Amino acid sequence: MRRLEGKVALISGTARGLGKAAALRFAAEGALVIGGDLLHDEALETQREIGREGGTALTAGPLDVTRPESVEAWVGEAAEAFGGVDIVLTNAGSVRFDPLFEQSYDDYASPVRSELDSVWLTARAAWPHLTRSRGCIVTIGSTAGISGSLTNHRTAHSAAKGGVIALTRQLAAEGAAHGVRANCVSPGLIDTEGSRGNLLADSHPMRDTAQHVPLGRLGTPQDVAKAAVFLASEDASYVSGAHLVVDGGWSVVLPGPLT
Ligand SMILES: NC(=O)c1ccc[n+]([C@@H]2O[C@H](COP(=O)([O-])OP(=O)(O)OC[C@H]3O[C@@H](n4cnc5c(N)ncnc54)[C@H](O)[C@@H]3O)[C@@H](O)[C@H]2O)c1
Repeated sequence: MRRLEGKVALISGTARGLGKAAALRFAAEGALVIGGDLLHDEALETQREIGREGGTALTAGPLDVTRPESVEAWVGEAAEAFGGVDIVLTNAGSVRFDPLFEQSYDDYASPVRSELDSVWLTARAAWPHLTRSRGCIVTIGSTAGISGSLTNHRTAHSAAKGGVIALTRQLAAEGAAHGVRANCVSPGLIDTEGSRGNLLADSHPMRDTAQHVPLGRLGTPQDVAKAAVFLASEDASYVSGAHLVVDGGWSVVLPGPLT
C-alpha cells in the first residue's frame, strides 16, 4: 500500500539535493508532485525521472520561493491542475556562511528571506487549499536551528532555521482548528550538491564530520525524504507540531570514541 496515494504534494527545490530526493520518494508513494526550482531545466529533469518511474509530476516555474507572485503562481498551478493541495513540503532555500563582524546587513537578510520568509510565503499561499483538504505542511529546518557551531559561521542560517522550527509550531497551532497538521524535519549534515559546495568541500574543516556522527556516516537525501513521507502520511495522523531531527545522533550525543 502506497502511503501518499492520490495526494497532491507541492515540493520546492526539486532540481537537486533533498528536494529532488523528496520529489522522487513522494511520487513513488503515489503522490502527484508539483515541483519547482530556480534551476528550471534541472527541475524538469526530475519531473521526467518521475515519469520514467511511472509517477506523476508537474513543474511550475521557474519558481523563486522568495517572490510572492512566483509562489502564488506555483500554488495556483497545482490547485488548477489537480483540483487542490494536500501536502506542502517547504525545502528550497540558499545558505551563506560569514563571520558576524564581516557580514553586511544584506548578507544576513538575504538568506533569512530565502530560508525563512519563503516558508511563510508558501504556507500563506497554500493555506486556503490546506484548510479545505485538511492537509499538512512539512518544513525543512536544520540542526543549525537548535545549536551553535564552533566551526561554521552561520548567524543568518541559524536564525532562519530556528525561525522555521518556531514558525512550524505556530502553523500547527493555527492549523489545528482546520485539521491541518504542521511538522518540521531538521537534517544534520547531508551529502548534497549544496553541502558539497561548502561544508563538505575539500578545504572545509567540517569535511570530516562523518567521523563525529554517532551513526558513523553523513546523511543521505533519502534519509530526509523518508522522514518527510512519514510526517506527510496517515501514519502521522496524530502528529502535529513535532520537530523530527534526522542527523544520526549528531546533535544530542557527546563526541568520543566508540566503546
Ligand atoms: N544538505 C544539508 O546538509 C542540509 C542540512 C540541514 C538542512 N538542509 C536544508 O535542506 C534544504 C535543501 O538543502 P540541499 O542540501 O538539498 O540544498 P541544495 O543546494 O543541494 O538544493 C537546494 C535546491 O533549492 C533550490 N533553490 C534555492 N533557492 C531557491 C529559490 N529561491 N527558489 C526556488 N528554488 C531555490 C536550488 O536551486 C536547489 O535546487 C535547505 O532548506 C537546507 O537549508 C540541508
